[in-house]
Formats: sequence, structure tokens, C-alpha cells
Amino acid sequence: MANAIDLIRQDHEKVRDLFDQFERAVTSLQKKEIAEQTVMELEVHAKVEENFFYPAVRQVGGIDSTMNEAEEEHHAAKLLALEVARLEPTNPYFDAKYHVAKEMVLHHIREEESDVLPRARELGDARLAELAEEIERRRLEYLDEVRRMLRGDLLAMIKGLIERSREATGRHGSD
Ligand SMILES: [Fe+2]
Ligand SMILES: [Fe+2]
Repeated sequence: MANAIDLIRQDHEKVRDLFDQFERAVTSLQKKEIAEQTVMELEVHAKVEENFFYPAVRQVGGIDSTMNEAEEEHHAAKLLALEVARLEPTNPYFDAKYHVAKEMVLHHIREEESDVLPRARELGDARLAELAEEIERRRLEYLDEVRRMLRGDLLAMIKGLIERSREATGRHGSD
């Protein structure tokens, strides 16, 4: 039977793999696609942790300051990840932003694996299995939510691009 700790670790591996894929990517299009997938995975993973995993781990006691810090790291990483998703891969800061987000997330994942997951074991097998079920049940819904959120963001970006090109055409027109 699946256990919530294993699911969290699997997500971490997926994200580490995307980071490696980004380093191997050659074209801007490949980078853009990998960056979008990274943001999607991170958003869904953060939702799973914040809504199910973290509240459960807090119940083991004496870990609130660690969990508060983890939540703040999610907050900071999300802001940065969204900026990456909005940026064109040809922007000179695209790689820099992705790399800073990656370092931040890798640090967070390492702390989670060393400080949070071992304490989560104290929840016991039955509770961890129950949590895994809840997580699996909600994951698709979260994926859908995040896709819609990113698409909304993308539409706003496209609108901005169209307006900018209209302005540029206007300028040419008056030349
Ligand atoms: Fe996390
Ligand atoms: Fe995590």
C-alpha cells in the first residue's frame, strides 16, 4: 500500500529529474517546456504538502518552527517559479531565474528529507496510508487548478504581447 512519505519522495525525484533535464536542454523551446512542467509539479506538490502533509506532520508535535519555515520557503519559491513561467526563454534572465529557483527548491527538499520526513514516520503506517489515499484522490483536481491558474497567467501575458506589438505597429505606421 502507498505511504504518504513515499509519495512525497517520488515528487521530489520528479522535480530533481526536471532540473537535470533543464541543464541538458538545448533549445529555448525545450527550456520553456521543462520550466513550465517544473512550475506545474512544484505547485501541485506544494498544495499536497500544505493541505494534507504538513498539517498531519504538525500533529507529531514540537516541529512548528520547522514547518513554518518550510511554508515560507514554499511561498518564496512559488513567487520565483511564477516569474520563470511568465518569462520568455530568450530573456537574458530566464536561465538565472530558473537556477535561483532550482537552488532554493533543492535546499528546501533537502531539509524536508532530513528534518520533516523522519518525524512524519511517527504518524504510523495506518495514518500514512490514509494520507496517501487522500493525496492521490486530490492530486488530479490540484493539477487541473494549477493548469487553469497558469493558463490564466499565460493569457494575460499573450494579451500584453499583442498590445505591445500593436503599439509597435502604430509607431511604424506614423513613421
Ligand atoms: Fe515542500
Ligand atoms: Fe516536498
